[in-house]
Amino acid sequence: MAVLFEPLVLRGLSLRNRIGMSPMCMYSCDNGMATDWHLAHYGSRAAGGAGLILTEATAVAPVGRISPQDLGIWCDDQIAGLRRIAALVRAQGAAAGIQLAHAGRKASTRRPWEREPGVPALVLPPDGGWQPVGPSALPYSAGYGQPAPLSQEQIGEVVAAFRAAAVRAHAAGFQIAEIHAAHGYLLHSFHSPLANTRTDRYGGSLENRIRITREVIRAVREVWPADMPLMVRISASDWVEGGWTIGDSVAAARLFKADGADLIDCSSGGTVPEQQLTTGPGYQVPFAEAVRQEGEVPTAAVGMITAAEQAETYLREGRCDMVLLGRELLRDPYWPIHAANALSGPNSGPIPVQYERGRYT
Ligand SMILES: Cc1cc2nc3c(=O)[nH]c(=O)nc-3n(C[C@H](O)[C@H](O)[C@H](O)COP(=O)(O)O)c2cc1C
Repeated sequence: MAVLFEPLVLRGLSLRNRIGMSPMCMYSCDNGMATDWHLAHYGSRAAGGAGLILTEATAVAPVGRISPQDLGIWCDDQIAGLRRIAALVRAQGAAAGIQLAHAGRKASTRRPWEREPGVPALVLPPDGGWQPVGPSALPYSAGYGQPAPLSQEQIGEVVAAFRAAAVRAHAAGFQIAEIHAAHGYLLHSFHSPLANTRTDRYGGSLENRIRITREVIRAVREVWPADMPLMVRISASDWVEGGWTIGDSVAAARLFKADGADLIDCSSGGTVPEQQLTTGPGYQVPFAEAVRQEGEVPTAAVGMITAAEQAETYLREGRCDMVLLGRELLRDPYWPIHAANALSGPNSGPIPVQYERGRYT
């Protein structure tokens, strides 16, 4: 059998295969509330055969939204809508995962398609947005708001917000929580020396810069059931001189594992607009490989993984433990079934793999 379709066991949870839907903001909520649209969106990818569905970045606090239309989990009223998503995803045989997020200094923007001609950034006007926060008073780029540096007391409130969000996520029926510590949002901005110039215990050395993320992981672990997995998405490289490196990621991953993380989801970039990255098929797989081999922790690879053989090769070569697909699952919710078909052997011809309630036969 293809490795892609072997189960992946993380703590007490067995994923039916190694294909996950990568978190993708859909900017389609009012007040952070999930709607029927979200149900169809996530339910269709679960019915399409993925082993894990991760929700889009789900804000743990209103100021932690990227845009006013982000999904949220900062209050109990948001649980009911999320519960419907988790229940539908599970009923289709996939594991239900949620990405817990805080946008930090990249908060308070319009939706990506609402860019105005001649306006450099997507930032909302003061009367329509809110004050972003970050490690230091350094904006993401010209045109973005200057973040208010978080006091140590406020950092404690952020950690508590992640913990409370995890309690709600469990109440909503999610089985995996992923902490978003990538793409230049709040936690990643603490990691990177390009965004974090603090001189207190949350800045300076690598240990200090990742302290907030370690506190979040431990706080979530305290309330997240011991038999349920915890993932952390990192930006494994800032792709710029003087920024966060893959070596830093390996060191951090070891510590995150000790804190209770079960799998590191290896993305990259997003700290500064000057990043120099070259994309191409599987361009972030070397990060998942390094963190897996040198950090000795299971990893997910993500980024321009679109073909069944491609995904299978990464897994077979031991470069990652699972693959996450983003845009390809938007294009084709049934990608896993098509992949099973493609990998089912040279003589299987065009006969579709039978798919029934999560079983490939
Ligand atoms: C529309 C869109 C929204 C995204 N939103 C998120 C998000 O909420 N959280 C996150 O960690 N990554 C987000 N990403 C990044 C994806 O999860 C993924 O890492 C990236 O698209 C690369 O994978 P792909 O080439 O398979 O699309 C988003 C990507 C897209 C295209």
